[in-house]
Amino acid sequence: MPKIPPRSAELPRSGIRAVMDLAWASTAPVIRLEVGQPDAAPPEHVLEAITASIQRKETGYTPNAGIPELRAACADKLARVNRIHVDADQVLITAGSMQGLSATALALADPGDEVLVPDPGWPNYRMVSRLTSLQAVPYPLRRETGYRPDFDELAHLVGERTRMVVINSPSNPLGVVWDAAVMSDWVRFAEEHDLWIVSDECYDQIVLDDLLEDAGVAEGPAAASSAVAVSPAALPGGSERVVTVHSFSKTYAMTGLRVGYVSGPPEVLATMVKMQEALVACVNGPAQHGAVAALQGPQEFVSERRESYRRRRDRAIEVSDELGLPYQRPSGAFYLWLPLRLHGRSGVELAEELVRDAGVAVAPGETFGSEGEGAIRVSLAAAEDDIAAGLRRIVAHLG
Ligand SMILES: Cc1ncc(COP(=O)(O)O)c(C=O)c1O
Repeated sequence: MPKIPPRSAELPRSGIRAVMDLAWASTAPVIRLEVGQPDAAPPEHVLEAITASIQRKETGYTPNAGIPELRAACADKLARVNRIHVDADQVLITAGSMQGLSATALALADPGDEVLVPDPGWPNYRMVSRLTSLQAVPYPLRRETGYRPDFDELAHLVGERTRMVVINSPSNPLGVVWDAAVMSDWVRFAEEHDLWIVSDECYDQIVLDDLLEDAGVAEGPAAASSAVAVSPAALPGGSERVVTVHSFSKTYAMTGLRVGYVSGPPEVLATMVKMQEALVACVNGPAQHGAVAALQGPQEFVSERRESYRRRRDRAIEVSDELGLPYQRPSGAFYLWLPLRLHGRSGVELAEELVRDAGVAVAPGETFGSEGEGAIRVSLAAAEDDIAAGLRRIVAHLG
């Protein structure tokens, strides 16, 4: 058999998937707190729009860039919600934000170039880098500094071949939301080093604390409401070097429908629209109609889900306080990060033991980078009582 190159053959497996497999294989019941998937169906009007599209037999190819109604609806949402002002032709519809991230990496860097990725950070940034032959350079986010970026340290990580930095606020796995001041610093840093910023905003509307701050954005506040995270693309200088990646997956519980969107400078988007032909050709048409309905229909679903994540977050930290568990209070997304720092035991070992011996599945911290060593991530996209019971089982197991 011809050789499969190491770039793909030796791609490390996701540590979360390994825990999922163990949980599936378990004969005893396991409380599932390892996956980041909303525990709800999409709003009814979204499902109806998808059904209506299928009934209209809209099963053919769509334009590479996405259906015009959805591009326009995304541009409108970006202005209304994120204060990002782009034309509809600066929006590319992607197969989930994951495909948007891979396409962005392919568009903005050449093989061998370097990309700065958060550590702890979503493991897929490292996977994409590897598959696109880029070198991922982790930038540490530390508990001691509230998981804020250290720009002096970052400056030392920039080399000749650094092309872009990936940022993610609200963060998976930390739940940290960076305010307008931090985002302005990111734009300044990128200007200084002539880098692209790839801003993964897939949890943009899942903000659980009031963090709204104005950092001198031309028109109005940096985000439309305190329930929306600030995007660097909305800040001065952002329109030239920030590429944002958004998703329908988390906000509207549409994970399996695979719809996301990328926006940024016109030249970047024109390039990416061309590339889409070679990547996925186009995104599923009926799902795109569902996404139009999601943006244009009633938005109560978004606020109700946010409220439910907030309640679960509050319960999770109440129980953690009661149990004496160390945690990072999540201000956004739906994860609780527990920096346990166990001596002599890795997060991977602990996560495996927890499934086997305590009947609770969590994500091991190392999956998110070396700074995650000894930590675990608990998903809050689960029933409140399961979260509370899961945390108790973890503490009982630790003894
Ligand atoms: C930080 C982050 N970005 C992107 C995604 C991908 O979402 P999707 O491809 O479903 O839009 C996820 C999903 O877990 C995520 O946690």
